[in-house]
Amino acid sequence: MSEPISVGRALAQAGLVPVDAQVLLAQITGQNRAWLAAHCDASLTPAQSDTFLALAKRRRNGEPVAYLTSVREFWGLPLCVSPAVLIPRPETETLVELALRCLPVNRATRVLDLGTGSGAIALALAKERPQAWVVATDVSAAALAVARENGGRLGIDNVEWQHSDWYARLLSSAVAFDMIVSNPPYIAAGDPHLTEGDLRFEPAEALTSGHDGLDDLRRIVAGAPNRLRTNGVLAVEHGFDQSERVQTLLRNAGFDDVNSVRDLAGILRVTHGRRPA
Ligand SMILES: C[S@@+](CC[C@H](N)C(=O)[O-])C[C@H]1O[C@@H](n2cnc3c(N)ncnc32)[C@H](O)[C@@H]1O
Repeated sequence: MSEPISVGRALAQAGLVPVDAQVLLAQITGQNRAWLAAHCDASLTPAQSDTFLALAKRRRNGEPVAYLTSVREFWGLPLCVSPAVLIPRPETETLVELALRCLPVNRATRVLDLGTGSGAIALALAKERPQAWVVATDVSAAALAVARENGGRLGIDNVEWQHSDWYARLLSSAVAFDMIVSNPPYIAAGDPHLTEGDLRFEPAEALTSGHDGLDDLRRIVAGAPNRLRTNGVLAVEHGFDQSERVQTLLRNAGFDDVNSVRDLAGILRVTHGRRPA
């Protein structure tokens, strides 16, 4: 074990941007970042120093902070994450906001979240709409285990977790949903961004979808009309340059009122449409 060092020295020695170093040290000490800032002279235990220096090294090698701390906040919910799931992104909250505008507060509704990953979208919607019943699916059993664990730990019990390849093994085959939401893989295979940043560490099956990034969106859009009730809404997240092509997919599948909404960065990020009678 190394010599004990102070909070201030550990942060300075980490070789990381300050916020990353603070988040890692906050996790290890069980204190928050404000406490760390106010207690630069406090001593770390040798075990805390060793753990911190080891995690700092992994971070310098590119591993995402969320995988090192095993937690990421989404829609105010602290979600456990592992390398089996995509790290939930702030832009996906645009999809949650849109869904909440479509889902009434005082009526029981049925929602399908396709490709739930950590459970981010399903759990945010289930928490905000306690009367809704949310079916959340993923093709990855490992991802589904993380999502189920998140639901249990957060005490959100109006979600049903199902292992399915999009609609193929969906158990509620007789159910017509009021809304289908999905943040599917939508990056083109071979996109150079896949070799950069956090994407290098995230599961490939959560990221890529054929030569143009739209293979999974084609399957999701094509299958949606059979699973939606009349006037039910499909809303999907997609890449920064895909809104026109996704709008075309929805119109060709017979959807009405097709439109796209922007995320906080001003990018057309979510496209939605209504299943006509
Ligand atoms: C971009 S991630 C989104 C995860 C989560 N919904 C979120 O927004 O953070 C896409 C998810 O779709 C899942 N997925 C990929 N192919 C699938 C398929 N054929 N059927 C169901 N889920 C699939 C992946 O395992 C991954 O969890």
